[in-house]
Amino acid sequence: MIVLGIETTCDETATAVVERQPDGHGRILADVVLSQIAEHAKFGGVVPEIAARAHVEALDLLIAQAMREASCEFARLDGIAAAAGPGLMGGLIVGLTTAKAIALVHEKPLIAVNHLEAHALTARLTHDTPFPYCLFLASGGHTQVVAVLGVGDYVRLGTTLDDAIGEAFDKTAKVLGLGYPGGPEVELYAAEGDPSRFALPRPMAGREGADFSLSGLKTALRLEAKKIAPLSETDVCDLCASFQQAVAEMVIDRLYSGLGLFRERFGAPTALVAAGGVAANQAIRGLLHHIATECETELVLPPAELCTDNGAMIAWAGAERLAHGLIDSLDAGPRARWPLDRVSKPAALAAEAPPA
Ligand code: KG4
Ligand code: ZN
Repeated sequence: MIVLGIETTCDETATAVVERQPDGHGRILADVVLSQIAEHAKFGGVVPEIAARAHVEALDLLIAQAMREASCEFARLDGIAAAAGPGLMGGLIVGLTTAKAIALVHEKPLIAVNHLEAHALTARLTHDTPFPYCLFLASGGHTQVVAVLGVGDYVRLGTTLDDAIGEAFDKTAKVLGLGYPGGPEVELYAAEGDPSRFALPRPMAGREGADFSLSGLKTALRLEAKKIAPLSETDVCDLCASFQQAVAEMVIDRLYSGLGLFRERFGAPTALVAAGGVAANQAIRGLLHHIATECETELVLPPAELCTDNGAMIAWAGAERLAHGLIDSLDAGPRARWPLDRVSKPAALAAEAPPA
């Protein structure tokens, strides 16, 4: 089964062609990403209108490039998958409409993929990870702990009550006068800093459940920075290190709790899987290894380029859904908000589910 995938939810235009073999094994035939970071950097964040225009300009060429690299023709495809949400409306419309046009012209099924589901299923493409597993998704837009029980079968165990973790890194970088995106910048400065110099809070630590909160930590950092302004390079390094340490400790606390919830409700997970740009942070990655060992579970970290937004994960989620007969009509609309537990399930699972 060969599927074309299109990703346009935020500031990456990405396309890919992925094959799913009958035994469930996946192979990436082509994976092309065009980042718009340079276009948004001068505004210190993603500007939706600029993003949508950039997707329009790039998408056709990127689809042609992926098809060429995969040595594939449209006639050979088994399905066309596009991220239909959650994300910025302009970009979603560009990706989904393009996918519909290809599906219509070439008489192929359309799969309107939930972007979070695509992050959730990536470990099965890269590591053949069997269900059920525990996903920690931390990006610029999302912070979630999810029990991944099957295709279309997700239970959210925790989420952020305010900012996403990546967003908090980005805002911290902005306060300290560093570049965008903030995560890699903060990590760079943190490497030279003293993580114990500033006593920043560890929000939610010790609380029941697996929810996160970042806004108190963000405010505390801003106040500390204001107190000692003007900031020397050492101050910036120490603030970054103290912030990163506080986030990492919160992640540990919340994942211990999340893995406990998982065990209580679903038994032992086959793995702890990390996804999203924040999973590129070395301090956080190190602690994830530590938690997985303590909790006697395997740690699955897909390669960084498949943790951040990409087309292969959309194509793969499309293939996994197609294998269960889950396809969408050409009426499928883009959804700015689309919680993971609202994606459609295979018929057998849907019949078991209690009425909504
Ligand atoms: O998954 P992603 O590429 O895009 C989406 O947001 O969907 O994640 C980007 C986010 C940004 O907020 C960025 O600052 C953060 O991930 N990030 C990091 C690191 N690299 C990227 N945060 C902390 N440490 C990093 N090394
Ligand atoms: Zn994402």
